[in-house]
Amino acid sequence: MTSLAVLHASQLVTLSGPKRPRVGTELSALGIIRDGGMLIRDGKIERVGPTAEIEKNVSDEEIVDAGGRVVMPGFVDAHTHLVFAGNRLDDFERRSRGETYEQIAKAGGGIWSTVEKTRAASEPDLLTQAKKHANWFLRCGTTTVEVKSGYGLTVEDELKILRVMRQLKEEVRLEIVPTFLGAHAVPRELSPDEYLDVVVTEMLPRVTTEKLAEFCDVFCERGYFDIDQSRKILSAAKKLGLSLRGHVDQLTNSGGAKLMAEIGATTADHLEQTDGQGIAALKKANVQPVLLPGSVYALGSSRYPRAREMIEAGLAVVLATDFNPGSSPTPSMQMVLSLACTQMKMSPAEAITASTVNAAYSLNRGDKIGCLEPGKLANFVIFDCQDYRELAYWFGVPQTLAVYVCGDCVLNNSDGR
Ligand code: NIG
Ligand code: FE
Repeated sequence: MTSLAVLHASQLVTLSGPKRPRVGTELSALGIIRDGGMLIRDGKIERVGPTAEIEKNVSDEEIVDAGGRVVMPGFVDAHTHLVFAGNRLDDFERRSRGETYEQIAKAGGGIWSTVEKTRAASEPDLLTQAKKHANWFLRCGTTTVEVKSGYGLTVEDELKILRVMRQLKEEVRLEIVPTFLGAHAVPRELSPDEYLDVVVTEMLPRVTTEKLAEFCDVFCERGYFDIDQSRKILSAAKKLGLSLRGHVDQLTNSGGAKLMAEIGATTADHLEQTDGQGIAALKKANVQPVLLPGSVYALGSSRYPRAREMIEAGLAVVLATDFNPGSSPTPSMQMVLSLACTQMKMSPAEAITASTVNAAYSLNRGDKIGCLEPGKLANFVIFDCQDYRELAYWFGVPQTLAVYVCGDCVLNNSDGR
């Protein structure tokens, strides 16, 4: 395995700090080392410090000169639906004419239209499309993604999607964390109760026996799964040893945040409609909120989740893309940082903490990724800028120069710069 010495980062953004998700003012502490560097051996970070100090310890390492640019941990995207077939261009056009997500779903678009295309796709076809999406993430500086199933809605199709994730992990240098989201919608051929039974008695046992997922998620929303149905699915998953996440309070406030607190979920995601009581419940139960401003933006809404109140309440906020063909067709964490700062009034530093170290903890990987400190995996990005705030400031400009996973350069855009 390669040994590297990374030198001359204008800012080495280490995110070094307490070994737990960051809350309150800790979200603003990025642990920046000016003119910083790192020594990397066998895929792991061995030493971090000022370049002058790192240089003294260099022997036969390959030198990576960051040339006065920002070096940061790779983004950790804790909420995506990366495996699906086709796109939703027709929904997009309808929305541009003013139709809502719910109206479009009723008219034959929405999740169901992606389910039809995903069911029709063979495993190799789905893998080819997933690889294309995975490369988009790497190009955006993301090195770990959580990926949900949920566009199959039959036992075989849900397993097919989860197997594609497993294969994807083998074939691309993006780390994949699999989540089972069988309860993403009720398939046309079954009643809600019949489908719930399939999820609990057939899908969950297969998913856990074949070790295809680490988390279970549900779409708890009017017209999808209500509180009681969501509770049944999540309790069954918990009994089988899965950790829990949930799409809650996205379009309506149905008390989803409270359910996630009651059931001991790791995360509660979306939360656009969550009120003060929901926020207090999340705090009490130590649930991490995963905020997805890309989906608010792409749905043309202005109802962003109450990030400031959540931070003030002491929640360990996470930001993610929600990459999916319907409500959030973006793999770009930089776009999410921009939205977090402009629309949710998070500072650039808070947004970066929420999309790296806090996201890593929400995926039970805080001990391995999300920070640049000795012992962590050498997953890092060189961005073509001098100040970390530029990542949230220049929107629509790709700034990823080079991406490293376990010390290997997996993407290099430096030609001609
Ligand atoms: O997170 N809310 C439910 N699921 C996705 C949307 C999926 C889709 O529209 O295809 C979301 O926004
Ligand atoms: Fe989602």
